[in-house]
This record gives sequence, structure tokens and C-alpha cells, in this order.
Amino acid sequence: MADQYERSAEFVDVMIAPHWAALGPPLAKALRGVTGPVVDVGAGGGHGTRVIAEAVPAAEIVAVEPSPALRSVLLTRVHESAALRDRVTVLPEGLLEAKLPQRLGAVVAMNVIGHFDPAARQEIWALLGERLAPGGRAVLNLQPPAEPVAVPESRMADVRIGRRRYEGWARAEPAGPGRITWHMTYRTYHDDRLADELQVAYDWWVLSEQRLKVELDGHGLVPALVEPGVYAVDRGDA
Ligand SMILES: C[S@@+](CC[C@H](N)C(=O)[O-])C[C@H]1O[C@@H](n2cnc3c(N)ncnc32)[C@H](O)[C@@H]1O
Repeated sequence: MADQYERSAEFVDVMIAPHWAALGPPLAKALRGVTGPVVDVGAGGGHGTRVIAEAVPAAEIVAVEPSPALRSVLLTRVHESAALRDRVTVLPEGLLEAKLPQRLGAVVAMNVIGHFDPAARQEIWALLGERLAPGGRAVLNLQPPAEPVAVPESRMADVRIGRRRYEGWARAEPAGPGRITWHMTYRTYHDDRLADELQVAYDWWVLSEQRLKVELDGHGLVPALVEPGVYAVDRGDA
């Protein structure tokens, strides 16, 4: 699997950190009462893994992260925390290739569903329908746009570390049915002078709430809104 974050990993983890200030509370709320094991799908550098560990005390956590670059951030974050080191297992495969526990207490897929094409999404919903334990739950978020449309460039991050300031810019363009291409620009300023600029692009499969409901329904799964964009997915027979 190609590592789409190979060149941007150094920026991605620090730039996604502020978003977790908003995502952490609804995720923790949605996980209330679940038991382990909990799978963190595309754990990235582990901001969400940390939220899961606090929200579901003592649960085993399986953090799946195929990007070697982001996985090294994740392993470091897990290793440096005594609270995480003993119960987080990091797997290097993609979700659909990873060997997961047979019964799953919860599956968390934050900021990641767009990496899966429609056929792969069906495999994920099937996995949830078959392997979520009774009372188990998945939590996921959908990010705009919900349709394959152009998104004008905007600054999505501005982080100062020491004498350097890191800006992240994003724009998207349609790339076919259900798909957009994100174009990311990362600019590094040293004492406010441009020192470096990196451009990367990756594909993203868009998904609307309506489409999500239809797809989940086909697998006996029901989504409930936790807060705008964040969904708790339960088995219909739960
Ligand atoms: C935008 S990052 C989000 C990281 C993390 N969930 C967060 O919110 O901080 C998307 C993550 O999905 C991972 N990913 C991409 N394809 C994947 C797949 N097939 N299985 C599991 N993870 C995948 C990427 O490597 C990346 O870490």
C-alpha cells in the first residue's frame, strides 16, 4: 500500500491536533459504556487512540496504521505513555488486511472513511455487522464535501513551534463519481520568511449522511448523530 502521508507526516500530526480538541468529547461520549477490544482505524499519530484509552479504561486497543511515517509518530506516542504502552497494539496493515480480534467491542474510524472506495466501505460495514459484539458500536465522522465538488483553497492550520511557523492549505477538485482529489500545500516559515514548501495530493471518497444510512442499512446497522458530522453506529438488533 502506497504511503500517502510519507512526505506530509511531519505536518499532519501537529496540524490535526487542534481538531482533536473538538473531536475528543463527542468520541468519548459515543464510547461511553462500550467494552474492549476497541479498534482505532487509521490511528494516525494517535490523538484519537489517547481519547479512546481515557474513555474506555482498561480496554485492549488495536491501533491500525498502514503509513510507516505516521506509525512512527503513533508508536512513539504509545511508548511514551505508561497508560497506553500496556494495552495498545499497533498493527501496520490496512484495516481490511489486518488480523483483528474476532469479537470487537468498538471500532473508531475518525477522519479516515474517505480513504476507502465504495467497495471497501461495503467490506467495512460487513465486518461491523458480523463482528461487533452485542452492545458494540462503531464511531465515525464524515467530512465535507458530501458530493464530488470543488473546494476553494483555504488555510486549515497555522502552528508555531519555536522560531518556525507551519501553515497548511487545502483545496479539492472533483476526480470522478464519488471522488475528489485533495491538494495540500505545507509552508514552513522561519522567523516569518518562507523556508520550505511542500505540495501533496491524494484521493478521497466523499460520502453523504443519506448515503451512509443506506449503505449501513444493507448490513443491519443504524447510525445516530452524536454531533454534527460524528455518528455512533449500532447493530439494528442491539
Ligand atoms: C487523516 S488521517 C487521520 C488519522 C487519525 N484517525 C486522526 O484523526 O488523527 C487518515 C489516516 O488513515 C490511514 N489510512 C489510510 N488508508 C487506510 C486503510 N486502508 N486502513 C487503515 N488506515 C488507513 C492513513 O494512513 C492515516 O493515518
